[in-house]
Amino acid sequence: MTENQPGENRRGEDRPGEKPVWGNRPGEKPAWRKPIWRRPRESGSCVVARCRPPTEPALLAIGVGHRAAWLVNLLTIVDFVTTEDGDATDDAAFARDRATADYYDQRAPEYDEWYEGRGRFAERDRPGWHTEVVQLAEFVASLSPSKTIDIACGSGFLTRHVRGFVVGLDQSRSMVALAQTRLPNRTALVGDALNLPVADRAFDRVLTGHFYGHLPPAERSAFLAEACRVAPELVVIDSALRPGIEPEQWQQRVLNDGSTHRVFKRYLTARQLAEEIGGEVVFNGSWFVAAKAIHGPLP
Ligand SMILES: C[S@@+](CC[C@H](N)C(=O)[O-])C[C@H]1O[C@@H](n2cnc3c(N)ncnc32)[C@H](O)[C@@H]1O
Repeated sequence: MTENQPGENRRGEDRPGEKPVWGNRPGEKPAWRKPIWRRPRESGSCVVARCRPPTEPALLAIGVGHRAAWLVNLLTIVDFVTTEDGDATDDAAFARDRATADYYDQRAPEYDEWYEGRGRFAERDRPGWHTEVVQLAEFVASLSPSKTIDIACGSGFLTRHVRGFVVGLDQSRSMVALAQTRLPNRTALVGDALNLPVADRAFDRVLTGHFYGHLPPAERSAFLAEACRVAPELVVIDSALRPGIEPEQWQQRVLNDGSTHRVFKRYLTARQLAEEIGGEVVFNGSWFVAAKAIHGPLP
């Protein structure tokens, strides 16, 4: 099983005329079934809870429920760290997990096969996928030119579409080497998303794709605090929650050499993502979602 395997069917083409929906889907309900967002721990010099409150009208309407939601979130976190394998090590399940780091380093040369529907992904039935990958690239290109750091940039597949000054950062040397080939006259560097080698507010925007949704609660908090510390704007792109998909799962990933790897992954509705980062929905597709948050000045 590899990226986005659940819910995908074999053999199929894009649905003719299908278009990803930008902005909110009418009638979409906030995902309260498994709320994850919580008030983060103090980390670095920025506390995410200081960031601007959600701007989605629907989220404002349900804002009064935040205190209750936080309590539920706390219980969810306790559940998370105690259920899977029964120990707390899962709280470092992705960004601080050595095996996951090795997995992505090994996957680098074949990573884009996921986006491009090649190799192991050629047989996947992902209606509308290719159209939406193009739309996602257009969305990235539509972001106003500013000083951007793309955290966990991977192969640079999306980073290359960023306008203006951009630095790509990833933990994997192989990913960074690949991203650098796509970023002539720009920089890709090796670094830790949870401990960024970057001064406070050195950038205007943090962009991150398909990283946030992999993080267990403690890593999520650390990442959001770091993102807020290094830039006032945060744009998070992730995998959309689709019908029939388990929102949180441990996936068994298979690479081209047949090796298997265990990866934690969440699928989010656009509203859930916006709520979690304290922002607004900026892309709402069938396969991808994105949200943007604006943070106030650092204390
Ligand atoms: C699913 S890929 C996403 C790549 C790219 N952003 C995209 O949207 O396709 C996740 C990436 O996170 C990187 N990563 C994992 N832990 C990290 C960490 N602690 N610091 C920086 N990058 C990390 C991996 O090396 C991998 O390239």
